[in-house]
Amino acid sequence: MAKSSSLCHLISQHRCSTSFGGTFFFLPLSLAISTLVLIFLYNFCTTSKVFTSNDNNLYQESSPISSLIQQMIPFSFENAADEIFFSPRSSPMSKGNLFGLDGNYAKNTEIYHDEDLFQQDYKEMNRSLKIYIYPHTKDHPYANILLPVDYDPKGHYASELYFKKVLSGSHFITQNPSEANLFFMPFSIVEMRHDPRIGVEGMQSFIKQYIYNISQTYPYWNRTGGADHFYVACHSIGRFAMDQVFEAKFNVIQVVCSSSYFVAGYVPHKDASMPQIWPRQGNPPDVDSLKRKQLAFFAGTINSPARVALLKVWGNDTAIFAHFGRLETPDADQLLDAKFCLHVKGFEVNTARIVDAIYYGCVPVILANHYDLPFADILNWESFSVVVHYMDIPVLKKILQRISLEEYSILQSNTLKVRKHFQWNDPALDYDAFYMTMYELWLRRGSVKVN
Ligand SMILES: *[C@@H]1O[C@H](CO)[C@@H](O)[C@H](O)[C@H]1NC(C)=O
Ligand SMILES: *[C@@H]1O[C@H](CO)[C@@H](O)[C@H](O)[C@H]1NC(C)=O
Ligand SMILES: *[C@@H]1O[C@H](CO)[C@@H](O)[C@H](O)[C@H]1NC(C)=O
Ligand SMILES: *[C@@H]1O[C@H](CO)[C@@H](O)[C@H](O)[C@H]1NC(C)=O
Repeated sequence: MAKSSSLCHLISQHRCSTSFGGTFFFLPLSLAISTLVLIFLYNFCTTSKVFTSNDNNLYQESSPISSLIQQMIPFSFENAADEIFFSPRSSPMSKGNLFGLDGNYAKNTEIYHDEDLFQQDYKEMNRSLKIYIYPHTKDHPYANILLPVDYDPKGHYASELYFKKVLSGSHFITQNPSEANLFFMPFSIVEMRHDPRIGVEGMQSFIKQYIYNISQTYPYWNRTGGADHFYVACHSIGRFAMDQVFEAKFNVIQVVCSSSYFVAGYVPHKDASMPQIWPRQGNPPDVDSLKRKQLAFFAGTINSPARVALLKVWGNDTAIFAHFGRLETPDADQLLDAKFCLHVKGFEVNTARIVDAIYYGCVPVILANHYDLPFADILNWESFSVVVHYMDIPVLKKILQRISLEEYSILQSNTLKVRKHFQWNDPALDYDAFYMTMYELWLRRGSVKVN
């Protein structure tokens, strides 16, 4: 009872106009009417978007912002779809009131969707998940591709090499394939790219060969068509890795950094998103300081429509400091001095910027439509980041300025809480990026084991 009456209270407070407020009878009626109106508006907007020319467009007439963006972001299938599925006015951020702090339902501040469930299941995973790595010897001609590296991985695609290295030394490994939940194909996309015998062009046929070999030598591939097999890739070329083996493309679990749910080759729920992490040691100074002078910071080259839009709107702004051009090293001073650090989609939805921001205690602002964010099955990204749609770039400053100091301090303390989930350690530490990735795999294991 308490629940439903508070729901009614909320609805009447937020949804019904003042003349309806408190009048119980009108609630279902007004909901029905508003649903009809919404359906009508939706049909009107989408049909006019897709089937008629721009001059008869509801959006553009009423919103100079969207026409500005439209001029700046050239038409493409992706952009068209963006507009169909999202409207700038439905962005929850543009209404302010981030966590409902002025109401009585401040639960969006939890960093986990369900902490108890996660903890319990994590322990179960830690006890029972078993992985079989296809074994290869040091004298294999492609040992450099197949075996873990013996140094600390560095650079943009370190996540891929770290995962394999840490997994190889972990308690999840079994030598007995009959007790394995999952089978790891240990080829490295990053190493293939640099091997002159393979390169980007040879990657697909190498993988085709590899899968042919394991399916001839072992019985495990044929049992499931690869559905209990996985591989890991951080470079976006991994997206095309399976193109010559259709069975693999549809079945294998891909653990990848480039996890855009709007491109072919990545299937959310089957595949898993892994964070791109530039490995760093130790703790930056004053990482938890709330006294950050800059409102927002961005650095990067201009290689995407979203970044062009950012440059055009905020290129000269002093509150939003955007540095366009290649920064050799991440600018630690800037990341420590800004309240918000922008991650703006470049060629791909992913870069190491989000994790850099988190590392430096700077609340990430994510401008990367369709990014299947890492560990989103576990973590409530709304509690420690601000997700903004491209269409809202012109109102970005307003969105960020509207976040109160109280809300900001919640966001930032949550950013610091999730730091441990975005770090690699060798050997792994509980709840770090390795364990989180293992948990994502655990969620994707088959429930029926084939024997
Ligand atoms: C996970 O397993 C490792 C190795 O057995 C152990 O050291 C660690 O404490 C476990 N963590 C949890 C949360 O159970
Ligand atoms: C597949 O097996 C053949 C024959 O043993 C070997 O020459 C080749 O290098 C293997 N290829 C891969 C990609 O493992
Ligand atoms: C798996 O299936 C392929 C194609 O049907 C077959 O050639 C191969 O011998 C099978 N592998 C095993 C280990 O039986
Ligand atoms: C930024 O400043 C430059 C040089 O003054 C000017 O050409 C450009 O139009 C300005 N951009 C914006 C978005 O105001």
